Amino acid sequence: MKIIIANDYEQMSLEAANIITDIIKSNPKAVLGLATGSSPIGLYENLIKEYKSGNISFKDIKTINLDEYIGLDGDHPKSYRYFMDDVLFNHVDIDKSNTFIPNGKAQNLEEECTSYERKLDELGGQDVQILGIGTNGHIGFNEPSEELVLYTHVENLQDSTIQANSRFFKSIEEVPTTAISMGIGSIFKAKQIVLVASGPKKAEIMASFQNNNLTPQIPASLLKLHPNVTIIMDKEAGKYYL
Ligand code: F6R
Repeated sequence: MKIIIANDYEQMSLEAANIITDIIKSNPKAVLGLATGSSPIGLYENLIKEYKSGNISFKDIKTINLDEYIGLDGDHPKSYRYFMDDVLFNHVDIDKSNTFIPNGKAQNLEEECTSYERKLDELGGQDVQILGIGTNGHIGFNEPSEELVLYTHVENLQDSTIQANSRFFKSIEEVPTTAISMGIGSIFKAKQIVLVASGPKKAEIMASFQNNNLTPQIPASLLKLHPNVTIIMDKEAGKYYL
């Protein structure tokens, strides 16, 4: 596991974007595993800059996202489909039919999960998976639990996650309480993983990467098993490393 402590959010975002840019340059048909939330927004801004400078193209890139809220369709401004269009896809030359996000309005959620995992396999897995991390240690929406689910599944969101994500909604009552999420095994199909974390609220959970323990109560701890993980944090999130 490689750990990089950046000075601030801007430098963290640039370091992460440089990794993704290099992957796209060496493989213009790469499969990018994407995350939503505040953490990767700066990373996506840098990718848009690289595209606008003519350094990279998304023409043949395929993307697959970690998760989506159940009950929101892609036109809903708080859906992760809408978020991805807004922060990345609408600003680059990607073919949207090559961008995959679970359908939060699927009639049959079990079938949606199975076919999403199959889609990930058809793509050959992610060349790189971008991750954020919850203050409770969740990755994707794999919440702390006695048991984790291997592949794409329906997850009940914990109160702390609903609380944290309520900042994107008008009121906490509007935050969906369930989501479709890749499992830890789906995330581990990635050849490489890049996790970004910023701000003081992430400091405690980031400190847990310093020990050698694995626990489903901190789903991100399982990343210690993956052979190619880079964690990039700003000084606030990485304060116990300084
Ligand atoms: C997003 C996701 C979540 C977020 C995490 C951190 O697709 O799966 O695991 O990465 O909740 O969110 P932010 O970056 O908003 O702190």
